[in-house]
Amino acid sequence: MTALRHFLDLDQIDASALRGLVDRAAALKAERGGNAGAPLAGRTLAMVFEKPSTRTRISFEVGMAELGGRTVTLNPSKSQMGRGETAADTARVLSRYVDAAMLRVNQHATLTEFADAASMPVINGLSDRSHPCQILADVLTFEEHRGPIAGKTVAWVGDGNNVATSWIHAAVRFGFSLRLACPTPLAPDPDIVSWAAENGGDVSLGMDAAEAVAGADCVVTDTWISMGDDPGIRHRLLAPYHVDGDLMSRAAADAIFLHCLPAHRGDEVSADVIDGPFSKVWDEAENRLHAQKAVLLWCLGA
Ligand code: CP
Ligand code: NVA
Repeated sequence: MTALRHFLDLDQIDASALRGLVDRAAALKAERGGNAGAPLAGRTLAMVFEKPSTRTRISFEVGMAELGGRTVTLNPSKSQMGRGETAADTARVLSRYVDAAMLRVNQHATLTEFADAASMPVINGLSDRSHPCQILADVLTFEEHRGPIAGKTVAWVGDGNNVATSWIHAAVRFGFSLRLACPTPLAPDPDIVSWAAENGGDVSLGMDAAEAVAGADCVVTDTWISMGDDPGIRHRLLAPYHVDGDLMSRAAADAIFLHCLPAHRGDEVSADVIDGPFSKVWDEAENRLHAQKAVLLWCLGA
């Protein structure tokens, strides 16, 4: 039996497969609305959301429909998962009904437990650890505006969160430099930073936003309070990491600004940056659709 193609984290997929996914996403975008056929006709994707979503839910739903397939959505609080049925047992059952599953989970361990028991491909639609679908879309967005990302410099400013983790994985797999500026208590997991170094990545971690952004080709940030986070003193810790016009002026003249959304104007980013000429966030949101269509085709061997 061939191994299942799960899409759980970018560090678990080799560089050439990831390159192929971004290239296929670009091709799918170019041919959207054309006569692409229905490569996933008769196939069903189950979606499980333990946390809210706008982009992930709608882009997967529309993506499956555009490929000729369909989705079914399970709300854990209204299913037996909410009454203690394990992720593994849920995976064994759903594998009898559907062809693939996408999960957004509170704990990454739920996702891996589900994937280990599933006999179908499983996609990470965000966990507390990572958000690989997002960064595939982000690489596509960068490349359509600024050309190949290999050899370029990306600055991550703010919380060293789940989205930052997937950026670290991507820096290694796509061969770009990543400079993270995070407050020490909110730095990314040291094991992930070490993994990057051990795998030849050019990933640096500091505390100074201006230093990280200097000359960068892309500046990225995210909410200061991720789903499930206790706000605590996060606003005080993250105030020096607010991305505004002054900080953007330190980046390369043609730098782009990315944010996975939802955004909080006045906190992690100023309105003039996210709504201004550097910002490519609406393309970035659209590219979730194209990137995930490529992921679905890859997972399902279509
Ligand atoms: N960026 C992102 O994943 O958005 P949603 O939470 O709306 O899915
Ligand atoms: N870091 C954010 C991303 C939302 C898409 C969160 O986990 O809430």
